[in-house]
Amino acid sequence: MVIVLGIESTAHTFGVGVVASDREPFILADERIKYTPPTGGIHPREAARYMAERAHEVVRRALRSSGITLSEVDAIAVALGPGLGPCLRVGATIARALAAYFSKPLVPVNHAVAHVEIGLKLTGARDPVIVYLSGGNTLIAAFLGGRYRVFGETLDIALGNLLDVFARETGLGPPYVVKGVHVVDACAEEGKEILDLPYVVRGQDVAFSGLLTAALKLVKRGARLPDVCLSLREMAYDAVIEVATRCLLHTNRREVMVVGGVAASKYLRRKFEEMAKLYGARLYVVPPEYAVDNGVMIAWTGALAYSAGVTVPIEDAVIRQRWRIDEVDIPWRRA
Ligand code: FE2
Repeated sequence: MVIVLGIESTAHTFGVGVVASDREPFILADERIKYTPPTGGIHPREAARYMAERAHEVVRRALRSSGITLSEVDAIAVALGPGLGPCLRVGATIARALAAYFSKPLVPVNHAVAHVEIGLKLTGARDPVIVYLSGGNTLIAAFLGGRYRVFGETLDIALGNLLDVFARETGLGPPYVVKGVHVVDACAEEGKEILDLPYVVRGQDVAFSGLLTAALKLVKRGARLPDVCLSLREMAYDAVIEVATRCLLHTNRREVMVVGGVAASKYLRRKFEEMAKLYGARLYVVPPEYAVDNGVMIAWTGALAYSAGVTVPIEDAVIRQRWRIDEVDIPWRRA
């Protein structure tokens, strides 16, 4: 059994998780704080300052609730990317300091891989088509030849970003999610008509920024907002479903797993359920609490990686803002 403390700080959440492998429950601690900008989008430096000022308290809370001391921890894991530079630096600095001071191995974790691994752990999916949807990421992948290979991804903005920016520009948000439902999803429920919007699938990939511009133009021209919301989400969600379906058929998988912050959308889930049923696949959706960013997923992935011998010298533990999921070897999973 290994005990790992994991630190997440790639975007707006600073999270510290402590896990014990080969034990149930495996989560010993799960502490998080989330930066919410007063207006507009997330400003990386403001988010980083918010984290830096409170990080010590979150680490302390995690250790206290886990009931263990740092000397009992086998390794420190940290998300080194992908993400926002200033935010990543906060987590990396704390992880390096803890590893150095307490002479603990440091385990580098890719944030996207962590979303996948916590999804597999919590849903019980074995070898699924992976659909990772969040504010910063949109990708469809499957495990092959020792890595999570990207089948399709966004060429510009992420699905979560599309919804948030549209909500912000039209005055629907922030907050973007009310009682677990995205404000665009909620507004779309009042929609009656599907309006003409550009198609967003590009080969195996998707591109959302043209759709965003076109939808905002419709609103400016006086189209009913609920109709635009309905049209926007149908176009965007169907594009993701289309790419995921193609991946399912090409890779001959029997499972689909949805992870990341947008996985919480009930409406999207319904669409995925229909798709899975149509193609005889099983659908797994990561529980909402662990669909969003958290330290537990970093600690859990750190435990898997550490058990497979993955560590990094402290001086080499640098952040990688554009660290792709398919650049990471996964030695703990058989190809
Ligand atoms: Fe994330």
